[in-house]
Amino acid sequence: MAQTTIEFLLTRNSAPIQDLKAPGPTDSQIETILTAASRVPDHGRLAPWRFILYRGAAREKVGEKLAELAQQREGPLTEGRRNQELTRFSRAPLVIGVVSSPKENQKIPQWEMFLSGGAAAMNLILAANALGYGSNWITNWYSDVPEGRALLGIAPHERVVGFVHIGSYDGSTPERPRPDVGSLYQDYSGPWQG
Ligand SMILES: Cc1cc2nc3c(=O)[nH]c(=O)nc-3n(C[C@H](O)[C@H](O)[C@H](O)COP(=O)(O)O)c2cc1C
Repeated sequence: MAQTTIEFLLTRNSAPIQDLKAPGPTDSQIETILTAASRVPDHGRLAPWRFILYRGAAREKVGEKLAELAQQREGPLTEGRRNQELTRFSRAPLVIGVVSSPKENQKIPQWEMFLSGGAAAMNLILAANALGYGSNWITNWYSDVPEGRALLGIAPHERVVGFVHIGSYDGSTPERPRPDVGSLYQDYSGPWQG
């Protein structure tokens, strides 16, 4: 029997990046994923986010630039450390950068623009999963470093929401512990105790 939407949400999890294999989503599936990612709550209809696709040979180029930057920051790299950077973006067939791109606006706080970017990333993931792909949302050191963001095509006023890795996945990740939901909410339905 087909999985219901609530079952889909209650069993969702991330895939280890090294288990995300080719083929990645097709062009038309990518368009569907980005359309779902753009259909999110967005106060003021500002679309304060955008997406960057890293795929094909561009992924190796990004790796070379990251290795160069890591060397500038850390000094000579060991072979293992260099390989780690060289392969950062080429482990999965597709990486989608979700970029928070705040807009000038007198009324809408920037915080709300950032939150809308998070919603876009989550919808993007859910859409990729709904199409049968595995995904993993990471940021990593280069997201927090201006030179890292620049080499990835991100402008100085923008921030990284995440680099979502997407690929074919056999779904074999063991479940990880989940929060105890009961300890995470207050219920103000009774006498006021706030
Ligand atoms: C904003 C954000 C940034 C993250 N960055 C990283 C990261 O750099 N490296 C990492 O291993 N996991 C990172 N994670 C965690 C993974 O995306 C993922 O949540 C976790 O591996 C498993 O969660 P899940 O199975 O509930 O999806 C990040 C998560 C978020 C929301």
